[in-house]
Amino acid sequence: MKNFVYSIPTNIYFGKGQVEKLGKILAPYGRKVLLVYGGGSIKKNGIYDTVTGLLEEAKMSWEELSGVEPNPRITTVRRGAQLCREKAIEVVLPIGGGSTIDCAKMVAAAACYDGDAWDLVKNGRAIKKALPIVSILTLAATGSEMDTFAVISDMDSHDKIGTGSPLLRPAASILDPSYTESVSAYQTAAGTADIMSHIFEAYFSRTDGYMQDRMAEGLLKTCIEFGVKAVEEPQDYEARANLMWASSWAINDFISLGKPVAWSVHPMEHELSAYYDITHGVGLAILTPHWMRYVLNEDTAPKFKAYGVNVWGIAKELPDMEAAGLAIEKTAEYFRQLGLPSTLTEVGIDDQLFEEMAEKVVPQLKYAFMPLDKEAIVSIYRAAL
Ligand code: NZQ
Ligand code: ZN
Repeated sequence: MKNFVYSIPTNIYFGKGQVEKLGKILAPYGRKVLLVYGGGSIKKNGIYDTVTGLLEEAKMSWEELSGVEPNPRITTVRRGAQLCREKAIEVVLPIGGGSTIDCAKMVAAAACYDGDAWDLVKNGRAIKKALPIVSILTLAATGSEMDTFAVISDMDSHDKIGTGSPLLRPAASILDPSYTESVSAYQTAAGTADIMSHIFEAYFSRTDGYMQDRMAEGLLKTCIEFGVKAVEEPQDYEARANLMWASSWAINDFISLGKPVAWSVHPMEHELSAYYDITHGVGLAILTPHWMRYVLNEDTAPKFKAYGVNVWGIAKELPDMEAAGLAIEKTAEYFRQLGLPSTLTEVGIDDQLFEEMAEKVVPQLKYAFMPLDKEAIVSIYRAAL
């Protein structure tokens, strides 16, 4: 285990009705709020009315940045930052999934920056200051509610870039699992695949962390147990609660502390989303089994076997390669059980841009579990067709 500094300072208000504390939670940060939300789900399920009622009660004023896109755009970030400056906003309050929270994070940073917001997407270290962020999560998936990252797209240049800074970690997040009961089966399944992928990215590392890996396996088992349940029974509170808490812990740094990780499947998926605007978790579910098959060899097999034995209950007496292969097939089967597409063709992607996308991925995989060159990445894309 390598040296690390542990600091995960987001205050979490977890459970039914925690939103009632909103006024108190916001008060230390200011009274002028920027409410950020997406395409309107919060108006349909009533969260918007609840939150604005609470803001009124707490005598807070607010402006709104609405229409944040899934795969949020830099143009929306710029619009939000402008609003913050014009209206002297003190605290940013996203209500939604990862897209809304990511957009809000970059708005919070760009509002305190003199140059163009895209500079901060390209280089997280340029973020020197950000407005405080309090998030209300409505979809269990990205972990943005408790992490330091934001992923923003420029659809004109087909760039989708993940940036990060400790200043982007929300000061507080309200996690009410009942808020996720209106999430569609498709987004619930995609969210589950995303949570699992975050865990895989940390788990499949060349540096061991015994404790972190056992935690990771527990989180994976949680996703496997409750992902399908939430898809089949959207009002299953326990399923929603377990998925929600797993989403935060998958990526809040804890399971990767002491074991440096460089992600593999996310960079490949981000290109698919940047060029074809597909749902992030769906792209991950399609690519993950193919990536696993590609990187499986005598050297990596023991790690895949550990995953198979500890997560899927595969017999530990089996030879490494056989157990590893079974674990990978279990993974693919689970994504199918969630009802997710298993080929790129199903989501309208053909082989035309594989080379162009792969070229952008290569530098990001330099320190990955297995560094991959352009040909390898194209092979993985091709296998997923
Ligand atoms: O926009 P609205 O109307 O709110 O509808 C959204 C959207 O259409 C809907 N939704 C959210 N909560 C709902 C709901 N519908 C009904 N009831 C609710 N309670 O779900 C749709 C998808 O929302 P989105 O926020 O896009 O989903 P997700 O949370 O999966 O976020 C995906 C984005 O996060 C990035 C992804 O790349 C993608 O851009 N990521 C962010 C990360 C991070 N910050 O750490 C890491 C991830 O790996 C990921 O890259
Ligand atoms: Zn993800």
